[in-house]
Amino acid sequence: MKVLIAGGAGFIGSTVASACLDSGIVPVILDNLVTGRREFTTDRIFYEGDIADAALLDAVFADHPDIEAAIDCAALIVVPESVADPLRYYTENVAKGIQFLGHLRRNNCRRLLFSASASIYATGDDFTVDEGSPVDPLSPYARTKAVFETALRDIAAAGEMQVASLRYFNPIGADPTMRTGLQVRRPTHALGKMVEAMTTGEKFMVTGVDWPTRDGSGIRDYVHVWDLAQAHIKALRRFDELVATGDTPGYQVVNLGTGTGTTVRELLSAFEAVTGRPLPSVETGRRPGDNAGSYTRSERAAKLLGWRPQHSLEEGIRHTLQWFERRDRVLSAGD
Ligand SMILES: NC(=O)c1ccc[n+]([C@@H]2O[C@H](COP(=O)([O-])OP(=O)(O)OC[C@H]3O[C@@H](n4cnc5c(N)ncnc54)[C@H](O)[C@@H]3O)[C@@H](O)[C@H]2O)c1
Repeated sequence: MKVLIAGGAGFIGSTVASACLDSGIVPVILDNLVTGRREFTTDRIFYEGDIADAALLDAVFADHPDIEAAIDCAALIVVPESVADPLRYYTENVAKGIQFLGHLRRNNCRRLLFSASASIYATGDDFTVDEGSPVDPLSPYARTKAVFETALRDIAAAGEMQVASLRYFNPIGADPTMRTGLQVRRPTHALGKMVEAMTTGEKFMVTGVDWPTRDGSGIRDYVHVWDLAQAHIKALRRFDELVATGDTPGYQVVNLGTGTGTTVRELLSAFEAVTGRPLPSVETGRRPGDNAGSYTRSERAAKLLGWRPQHSLEEGIRHTLQWFERRDRVLSAGD
């Protein structure tokens, strides 16, 4: 099997590409390298360019007429940036995404796995959500993801494409063999901030301690990126059956999380247990645009994909630390 991975030079896309290679699926990577890294495409079939570039997409399919499905991981993902420049986010994540769908369809590629986001969910009373839970995206970034999903459902309902939207929770870790990992030097999520605090000797900031969670800090569902990648392999292998099960014919939504909520304070304890050292922390106020968070209660991924995460929170932390130790050797150029 051969698949097109848009955004395949990014954190999640490159991990999915590695998982494809390990399972005998040939990935064809398309990425404009706006945040992705050329180093992640070494020894892989790679086209540098934009998902909206009609001529480039036609060339990709002319070279690889045997592509059976596409995975769309191409997007801008930084929440504060999306608040400052929503036009750019709607252009890249929505307008160009729609053009990309047209290019896929013109080239008769009608199967799509979409990198959707659990950040679109409204926080429920008990912090758990499933695929039918209400949606209330709080940032322009999250709204671009919700808007695009809505378009995908309409397009699938009309029989123009078949789509599975995979709603990721909070990916951590790296490819366990360390081919790829998070390319960003200073990630803004809690685990990234812990690694940074450990490295610089500064205190880790627990941002928000008055959420209505069990210990007041925000709650998340940290899922290992290698487990996420494996879910894509399973979804590719049973794609037609998967999309046939949706309420909308040809369209299905699947939460990809562990089903366990972890608060920031619990993540900090796990981090300290993995490193064997205390990490000094300080409590501060909520960050603008944050919410209490959520974790999945859905069994749909287990039922429809036969997928359950295999890696623990501690393994996710360990692989994150290993990756950051190695990052500067893999990513030689620039920052
Ligand atoms: N990282 C998370 O926490 C998370 C959570 C839920 C969902 N997602 C979704 O997963 C997907 C991948 O996220 P990631 O964390 O790997 O981010 P990333 O920034 O590492 O990867 C995105 C990739 O897309 C490429 N890209 C962006 N716009 C493009 C365009 N117009 N044409 C071609 N390439 C383009 C970038 O160069 C990059 O390689 C995104 O759709 C994101 O919304 C991410």
